[in-house]
Amino acid sequence: MNAFKQKQAVLQTPGGHDRPGGGLYARDRSWHPAALTPAYKTSVTRSPTRAPISFPTTLGEETGPVFTRDRLGPLDADLVHNFARSPDGAIGPRIVVQGRVLDEDGRGVPHTLVEVWQANAGGRYRHKKEGYLAPLDPDFGGCGRCLTDEAGRYEFRTIQPGPYPWPNGPNDWRPAHIHFSVFGQSWGQRLITQMYFDGDPMIWRCPIVGTIPSPEGIESLVARLDMEATIPMDARVYRFDIVLRGRRQTLFENRMEGL
Ligand SMILES: [Fe+2]
Repeated sequence: MNAFKQKQAVLQTPGGHDRPGGGLYARDRSWHPAALTPAYKTSVTRSPTRAPISFPTTLGEETGPVFTRDRLGPLDADLVHNFARSPDGAIGPRIVVQGRVLDEDGRGVPHTLVEVWQANAGGRYRHKKEGYLAPLDPDFGGCGRCLTDEAGRYEFRTIQPGPYPWPNGPNDWRPAHIHFSVFGQSWGQRLITQMYFDGDPMIWRCPIVGTIPSPEGIESLVARLDMEATIPMDARVYRFDIVLRGRRQTLFENRMEGL
């Protein structure tokens, strides 16, 4: 029995249901940013001051939540139009983001909910605490969602967000990014992360990105421009695969609200 099968056996639910790809593997903390990273100022006050405590997971945590397509609206995966009053949609460079949600063994995670949120093309969020001077786009809300298909593929349309300043140091800017929440097959797999854009010079200047321990970890968050898939006179395509847990996991954020 290989290591994966052994873990699956140990994690078999009380009801006897195997959960292929849904096991709760330990996170590799060396791959993720430390909780306390003073260059990222708010980590100082919100990082834990005591060692974490482990609890056994419950059946509900290991098997849910389950999402079905009937919960989604027809424009949920189209951020260009899902908030727009104008038929032209939101202002900004039109893009399609597509990729796969994979488990720790490289298998697609089917029928899982992928949620995204982002600033508009000027770098401004539709949020009451937003302090950036860039204008709101009346035709852009900034959030959307989709389900992965049988093979774990997801896709949504949006506009490329702009970079924005944030109150960390005297002149810190976030690179253009899209926030992701992915549920996986259980609560324990849930991943919250950010996607950056191929070739953006701001990535390497960002204090939040700078908390990631390795260049490989940073690169795992950069979506690749796929000119072969570009839709002529419409949208460029960026590809971003997401790995839930395991050694090749996409970086986890612990509560990056509003950033
Ligand atoms: Fe953000």
